[in-house]
Amino acid sequence: MTAFAYRSGVLHAEDVDLAALAESVGTPFYCYSSAALERHYRDFAAALPTDSLIAFSVKANGNLAVLKTLGALGAGADVVSGGELKKALAAGIPAARIVFSGVGKTRAEMQIGLDAGIHQFNVESEPELEALNAVALASGKRAPVTLRVNPDVDAKTHAKITTGTAESKFGIPWDRSRAAYALAARLGGIEIVGVDVHIGSQITTLAPFEAAFSRVADLVRRLREDGHAIGRLDLGGGLGVAYRTDNTPPPDAAAYGAVVARVTKDLDVRLIFEPGRLIAANAGVLVSRVIYVKQGDTKKFLILDAGMNDLLRPALYDAHHEIVCVAEPADTAPRTRYDVVGPICETADLFARDRDLPDPKAGDLVAFLGAGAYGAVMSSAYNARPPAPEVLVKGGQWSLVRPRMTDDALIASDRIPPWL
Ligand code: LLP
Repeated sequence: MTAFAYRSGVLHAEDVDLAALAESVGTPFYCYSSAALERHYRDFAAALPTDSLIAFSVKANGNLAVLKTLGALGAGADVVSGGELKKALAAGIPAARIVFSGVGKTRAEMQIGLDAGIHQFNVESEPELEALNAVALASGKRAPVTLRVNPDVDAKTHAKITTGTAESKFGIPWDRSRAAYALAARLGGIEIVGVDVHIGSQITTLAPFEAAFSRVADLVRRLREDGHAIGRLDLGGGLGVAYRTDNTPPPDAAAYGAVVARVTKDLDVRLIFEPGRLIAANAGVLVSRVIYVKQGDTKKFLILDAGMNDLLRPALYDAHHEIVCVAEPADTAPRTRYDVVGPICETADLFARDRDLPDPKAGDLVAFLGAGAYGAVMSSAYNARPPAPEVLVKGGQWSLVRPRMTDDALIASDRIPPWL
């Protein structure tokens, strides 16, 4: 059962009519389904060893209500900034279930993590190791650390979201990993607890995972021979989701879990995962209203009230999101080819090129599917457009979990200097 389905001719989120919701909250807006978040989390957890830590990647969807929903199921959080760390704590996720990733943690951010007593820091370079050591020693603490190693595996995903190849800024270069562990072992403020890897995002085949995890499993054995206590293995996030209804879906959690089990079976480590997209993407939609249908010289445009400031993925990665009408079209409804665009003064403000849609009219509602991950979190106020608000649905209940910012609030966030 999908959480977003037509009922009585109208697209619903669980039991909530999205057309009625649009009347209440205005458009555009993001809408998340609690049931879908829960189902995606549980399906993933069921495919993995029961003592695994599943740390939801907050960068995918940082809304406190979403984090609280997942935290209540036992999820931890994968954070990449002091801000995300504070959000995870504010949502009630215990520090002991938080892992701190990211290539550029500042000392101030490290301090927040140390003070909170987080589960581990995933360290990505030797200078970061030295900095964390200094911060920990100054606080009279030892920081629990895994080193993120770069296995030099091509994740075969979009170039802008691949992270595990040699030319990427992420992780410690493979050939230096044992030396970096030796350095960590000499630092009194560092406690080595495990190994970390993450090779990219929206990965839709299992081979890159298998290649990377196998390399890392070998490294765990080597590091133990070198005398390090490796008790944890953080395998990152990255399992892709279906964005197109006409493509073969990517491997499911069970298939991924089988690869993990095969590669890690003799390792005796506690596994950590950092899924983001897999949990949140298909648990959310972006609902928008058609402002105009415009006939161009050679093309027909559907101009929406959502723009690239609300959903950046198509502009940034040429990402595909299915666009459906909120009012259910008849199976026989004729379809017309549109470029679906936003109102922003940028050619890149283009959601979909040459999309066949059942003739929406000005005032009609459309929904972007797969918008629950890397949607609202990547929004901005470009063109002085307050980003879309967020709604969480549970059964027949809904709640505005981030209200729409007003134009006045946006203007009030700027300051005019007294000397101007
Ligand atoms: N862990 C680390 C260290 C990461 O860098 C990421 C994503 C994740 C976990 C979560 O990956 P996921 O399970 O969601 O694939 N804005 C892009 C995606 C960037 C992902 C960056 N890192 C998009 O909209 O496709």
